[in-house]
Amino acid sequence: MTMPSLTALLAERIRLGGPVSVADFMAEALYHPDLGYYTGRDPFGAGGDFTTAPEISQMYGEMLGLWCALSWQMLGQPSRLVLAEMGPGRGTLMSDMLRAAAAMPAFRAALDVWLVETSPRLTARQAQTLAGHDIHWAERFQDLPDGPLLLVANELFDALPVRQFVKQDGRWFERMVGLEAPGFAFVRGPHLAPDLPLELLETAADGTVAELCPAGRDLAAAIGARLARQPGLALIVDYGHPRSAVGETLQAVRRHRFHPVLADPGQADLTAHVDFESLARAAIPARAWGALTQGEFLGRMGIATRAAMLAQNASPKVAADIAGQLRRLIDAEEMGTLFKVLALAHPALPAPPGFVG
Ligand SMILES: C[S@@+](CC[C@H](N)C(=O)[O-])C[C@H]1O[C@@H](n2cnc3c(N)ncnc32)[C@H](O)[C@@H]1O
Repeated sequence: MTMPSLTALLAERIRLGGPVSVADFMAEALYHPDLGYYTGRDPFGAGGDFTTAPEISQMYGEMLGLWCALSWQMLGQPSRLVLAEMGPGRGTLMSDMLRAAAAMPAFRAALDVWLVETSPRLTARQAQTLAGHDIHWAERFQDLPDGPLLLVANELFDALPVRQFVKQDGRWFERMVGLEAPGFAFVRGPHLAPDLPLELLETAADGTVAELCPAGRDLAAAIGARLARQPGLALIVDYGHPRSAVGETLQAVRRHRFHPVLADPGQADLTAHVDFESLARAAIPARAWGALTQGEFLGRMGIATRAAMLAQNASPKVAADIAGQLRRLIDAEEMGTLFKVLALAHPALPAPPGFVG
């Protein structure tokens, strides 16, 4: 028997039960256990759908590895430390971080390395990339072992489902996904205002769309609660805005091009900008630092010096590649400004490396 397509399954669900929330649509499109976008494929790199910072250059993981080593020193150099990455994709970032960590043997020896991943296909890819390292996997942040913790998450939060709301005639309604020939369409749902600062909701014009990421807030709350109980820090890197805002950012990308959001669920990547202010608020009582821009953060960690070192004995072609990778990571017109870096930390800790007190 052949498996029905995700489009057919979602259409049937809507026919039987009525429109679904945008978050439900996005959750099915990305994480359906058999047909979800992340369940069955490795979407990264030039031959895939999109490229992330760790896939652009080894320098990115090296800078995050250095941040972790400096954070370990700030924590008093514990002899055992959980180093965890959430949503590790191909495992490239962790591989580069561990190579950088090897330059500080006492730090490397202290590490108990964990990956938190929901996709079995990507878990297998991570095992390949990290062959030879002693790695543990968990499916949820809450399953990580106790003890001092350093957590990194690169482009995880933009892949968590968002709800959408729309303002009409001065009132807010949830936006749902229904069926209108020839396919899926946005339809108006129940009268409901999103949990965003009141001033933003009141001053928004009719037709404005607002987004809310409950899964992101829940995860930030879980991380914050743990960091307030046990020593540790978390570094969250993603594209988004430092202050809560209204506006529609949900987008689909397929083979490095924008794709209609509701077309082909399961076949295109769906992401939304991250609201860093709401993550910081959800993480209280942990303390939030930043968000800095990615360009600022990588600059403070010394990425330009690292690029110069790598280029020193390289061929002109490789040196030009390194310069190009550096530009992609830090230039304002590339990832340097759109991407932000938020640190969450135990409230008693001083400013994390790269963040100013
Ligand atoms: C956009 S990819 C980013 C991958 C990688 N961090 C990078 O920068 O190349 C999102 C990753 O998060 C994983 N993921 C999605 N939801 C997750 C969750 N709730 N917990 C852990 N991993 C999750 C996906 O399977 C995928 O590995």
